Amino acid sequence: MLLLVLGTAAGGGIPQWNCACPACSGARAQPHRRRRHASLAVRTGEGRWYLVNATPDIGDQIESRPELHPGPRPRQTPVAGLILTDAELDHTLGIARLREADRLQVIATAPVRRALLDCLRLGDVLAPYTSVTWRDLPRRGAEPLERASSGVRICAIPVSGKRPRYAARIPDDDASDTGAWVVAVRLYDPASGASALYAPALAAWPDRLQQAAAEADCVIVDGTFWDDEEPLRTGISDRTATAMGHLPIDGPGGTAERLAPLSARRLYTHLNNTSPLVDPDAPQHKRLARLGIEVAHDGMVIEL
Ligand code: MLT
Ligand code: MN
Ligand code: ZN
Repeated sequence: MLLLVLGTAAGGGIPQWNCACPACSGARAQPHRRRRHASLAVRTGEGRWYLVNATPDIGDQIESRPELHPGPRPRQTPVAGLILTDAELDHTLGIARLREADRLQVIATAPVRRALLDCLRLGDVLAPYTSVTWRDLPRRGAEPLERASSGVRICAIPVSGKRPRYAARIPDDDASDTGAWVVAVRLYDPASGASALYAPALAAWPDRLQQAAAEADCVIVDGTFWDDEEPLRTGISDRTATAMGHLPIDGPGGTAERLAPLSARRLYTHLNNTSPLVDPDAPQHKRLARLGIEVAHDGMVIEL
């Protein structure tokens, strides 16, 4: 299985357009410190890729990888579809950016689809431009990403009921949906037996996630904030990391202690520009390295 890390930043990116903090200013001065919004591409066959999440950077992210470039026919694209882990704006605004597509396949859970259709009116907005096919993200057993193929399979693991702020008030159609506002996706390649778990938004760490993480060969998870106080300390919010819907990395109940015992390759993504980890020289990198945990960077290629 082949994965391309297309971006590793939380909402806003690094640099964030209206931010002059040391991380954002540093990234303006030193382009290698830039991070695009968190996203991943998974290869499902020769010249076939699915993107996990559609960020505001999606156009540049596609351009950044020759594997994702169109051709040989003028409007032939290797981007076969989009998989969404949640309905947050940093993971969905890029859908409209792909409106030039002949057709667009979007794989998402029911609550995510409802947020996009009922709150963002994305169905109405895109209908005059392209034909969008909505497909359910399977939750009770894996399905091949390419229908009727023996290739990479996908399954969602419900993580939390954290809704985007813009969808705070829409009713849940179905009580069983509440946990599927945010999911982790498990990608499994029957050919190699390899599996990866991608969970860029973790408000909780349910047992099923721990089980999936223990079985995976590679785990890429939410590394938005280093510790619970970071949003308060840096003045970006009056809520802790946990209250903002992102389990911190460090401290009791943090994600590092969940990842530490796993045998999988483990990486953090979705870094906020307030995180000490966005500084390549920060001592926190060494602390993670001692646990065998990496910080993903844009352009990383992961072969499993
Ligand atoms: C999040 O990860 O909590 C959201 O993307 C926040 C946002 O809307 O920027
Ligand atoms: Mn986000
Ligand atoms: Zn900043």
